[in-house]
Amino acid sequence: GRKFFVGGNWKCNGTTDQVDKIVKTLNEGQVPSPDVVEVVVSPPYVFLPVVKSQLRPEFQVAAQNCWVKKGGAFTGEVSAEMLVNLGVPWVILGHSERRALLGESNEFVGDKVAYALSQGLKVIACVGETLEQREAGSTMDVVAAQTKAIAEKINDWSNVVLAYEPVWAIGTGKVATPDQAQEVHASLRDWLKTNVSPEVADSTRIIYGGSVTGANCKELAAKPDVDGFLVGGASLKPEFIDIINSAT
Ligand code: 13P
Repeated sequence: GRKFFVGGNWKCNGTTDQVDKIVKTLNEGQVPSPDVVEVVVSPPYVFLPVVKSQLRPEFQVAAQNCWVKKGGAFTGEVSAEMLVNLGVPWVILGHSERRALLGESNEFVGDKVAYALSQGLKVIACVGETLEQREAGSTMDVVAAQTKAIAEKINDWSNVVLAYEPVWAIGTGKVATPDQAQEVHASLRDWLKTNVSPEVADSTRIIYGGSVTGANCKELAAKPDVDGFLVGGASLKPEFIDIINSAT
């Protein structure tokens, strides 16, 4: 079986005081054992060392991005090697905010995923369509093209979690219905089966992101192809503990 996965993407939020409070809430929360649910929180780069050192050991950390190749003269970037050096096991790549606001193409995201994996990082790779694309009926074409750009550059999927995050659901309060999420997750799994392998399709976690809350997570988690969540806004609040508990 695929172990349930809950990621908390803090995005560009937090002061040192707020980070202390969130970590305290996470450390005090009653959650299922790490055999049942894998929990990964992703603070901004500058807070990674402090969060990693203060967080309960069964929770892991992720960076929200990293550079596409070996470090060097790339002002403002953080390399995969640096994350490995700090003991950060995970990185989020291809988030829609970076695709849309920073112009990251499918190909660039594919290159980033391949490089991060080659350095030993585990990757949460994000895909998802805009409202315009959904209304045009091209949801599956869009997410398949995003996934293909990754699949072309990697062989080993064992350290990849695929996050389906419809852009229209991110930060809007308009969560996908459980049926909408299930439909795309099942199609993505089918795409992996046809284009990668049945084994990879069966073992790869496909998680949902976009306005997940403590109130709507249970219904989504009940769907057979929803293997967890990537949570934005609610990952900064105590209800993140409820979302972790939707694993059981
Ligand atoms: P929200 O949960 O705030 O909608 O954000 C989702 C997301 O983008 C997680 O990566």
